[in-house]
Amino acid sequence: MCGIVGYVGRDNAKDIIIEGLKKLEYRGYDSAGVAIVEKGGILVRKKEGKIANLEEFIKNEKITGTIGIGHTRWATHGAPSDLNAHPHMSNSGNIAVVHNGIVENYVELKEWLAKDYGVQFHTETDTEVIAQLIGVLYKGDLEAAVYEAVEKMKGAYAIGVVAEDQPDKLVAFRKDAPLIAGLGNSGNFIASDIPALLKYLDKIYLIENGEMVVCTADRIQIFDENKNPVDRDLLHVTWSLEDAEKDGFDHFMLKEIYEQPRAINETLMRRIGDDGKIKLDGISLTLEDLENINKIYIVACGTAYHAGLVGKYAIEKMAKIPVEIDVASEFRYRDPYIDDKTLFIAISQSGETLDTLAALREAKRKGARILSVVNVVGSSVVRESDDVFYTWAGPEIAVASTKAYTTQLICMYLLALYMGELRGVITKEYYNQILDELKAIPGKIEKILEKSKDVEKLAKTLYNRTQVFFIGRGMDAAVAYEGSLKLKEISYINSFAIAAGELKHGTIALMEPETIVIALATQDFLFEKMFSNIVEVKARMAHVVSVAKEGNTTIERESNEVIYIPQCADEVSPLLTAIPLQLFAYYVAREKGENIDKPRNLAKSVTVE
Ligand code: G6P
Repeated sequence: MCGIVGYVGRDNAKDIIIEGLKKLEYRGYDSAGVAIVEKGGILVRKKEGKIANLEEFIKNEKITGTIGIGHTRWATHGAPSDLNAHPHMSNSGNIAVVHNGIVENYVELKEWLAKDYGVQFHTETDTEVIAQLIGVLYKGDLEAAVYEAVEKMKGAYAIGVVAEDQPDKLVAFRKDAPLIAGLGNSGNFIASDIPALLKYLDKIYLIENGEMVVCTADRIQIFDENKNPVDRDLLHVTWSLEDAEKDGFDHFMLKEIYEQPRAINETLMRRIGDDGKIKLDGISLTLEDLENINKIYIVACGTAYHAGLVGKYAIEKMAKIPVEIDVASEFRYRDPYIDDKTLFIAISQSGETLDTLAALREAKRKGARILSVVNVVGSSVVRESDDVFYTWAGPEIAVASTKAYTTQLICMYLLALYMGELRGVITKEYYNQILDELKAIPGKIEKILEKSKDVEKLAKTLYNRTQVFFIGRGMDAAVAYEGSLKLKEISYINSFAIAAGELKHGTIALMEPETIVIALATQDFLFEKMFSNIVEVKARMAHVVSVAKEGNTTIERESNEVIYIPQCADEVSPLLTAIPLQLFAYYVAREKGENIDKPRNLAKSVTVE
């Protein structure tokens, strides 16, 4: 997820673009840049870090051009750096490009450009490939070159392009990534998101997939994929700036909950090759590597640790390798037995959590191989790992983690399946079945989200309770921990998670009529056992909210309410069960009027002990 702004008109383009980028900084903030068409060439300025760094960098420069493009980056290909920041240029110096999304076949295109055209590349990004590609195809007709280029590009992207010798024209193209265009008083705009433009206009064109936008100072034209002009109605935007940053959601947390189908799809798309199999490009896990591993340690903190709990189940079941899991703050001080036959998996959204980093260093010192599952490209955990499996969830702003968690789960499943197949310990049928189940998850999450009103209603009736227990067995127990953490961190209700079979060894003493028990019962093979646990707490008058798969009506007999998730294999149910639990925590906290995105005493990234 990155932010794009482009302007062509009569005012200073640099000022307008930077102002727009600042409104998109929530979409990506590891580097930013602008390309302004000046007399005598395209001037590109880019800087790692926040937009303020870029501003500082160019504050004494006289930049007067009235057409340009800008970008705020959230790195995916290549670490955040001045060099990898957008815009990118063709070697001819004539074309500059900003880009949001991924070009899946960029390696292929890169090789082709190098071989057939002798193109030399200067960055690690897929975006430079677009700039070089358009540069090579450009013969004086910018629209034609962009059309030709996008025909060769696979993936999901929105791009903005300017050419030095066409200083009155801005071209953009959309394929599965957001793009809008807007008519302003002093000129016209393109952007990835509405907030960038709200200061300048309140009427926009929504650009559809496969469409090209051509902006001049006085005109915006839209063309479809067959190059025919499109007549599009202007949309009147009524959002305030703050609303717009949250895409109309009340909080970043809710926005991020709703982003999960898209985020998961992206994580999957990047790891499933054209042959339909999992590809771990950039991660070296050969059969020989796996034969040398006799144990896996998963270490993390908070929500990432909970993703690890599911990962342990998945890896042991699918790859048949013993897995130990620990919270990083314990692992680092307990002198764990690690050697060069250990694969250490660190999971971290931020890649900066101090305990996780220290645990990683400890494992490394003892000879373990380090594989990390991280969201933030270029973070400390990434830099110190042997291999990295990115989650590609995009920036997560709310302190309570949601889309980072579910994308971490996807990574764990993919790793487990990949290792299982490589080691020959699972059948082809099982591999394909679970992969198909994973591919169906985004659609099933959409279905759960469509029914969010039911969870909201439930939250309205239960928000003033003071004690909540989350129980489950197997993978449901792992999700129970995450559900409980979500609820306590943003609603401040005392919640507690426990493996359902452990209840009778003490915790059941706490059951009272006012107690809420959220019972996760999505593991078919454990259902009878779980049902008995539900009966036990119900008998102690607890208020039971069950989460079960559609079609399970038995559970209604012993539950006050049931939240249904779509049918799925037991193995992948955490990806679905997590969603109503996130929504429940969110709506309870909202009902209580709490500060959802920034809960008290908590920080998004904990870089201290
Ligand atoms: C903090 C955050 C949690 C997060 C944990 C680990 O406590 O509030 O949401 O799960 O750190 O963070 P990491 O960035 O390593 O995943």
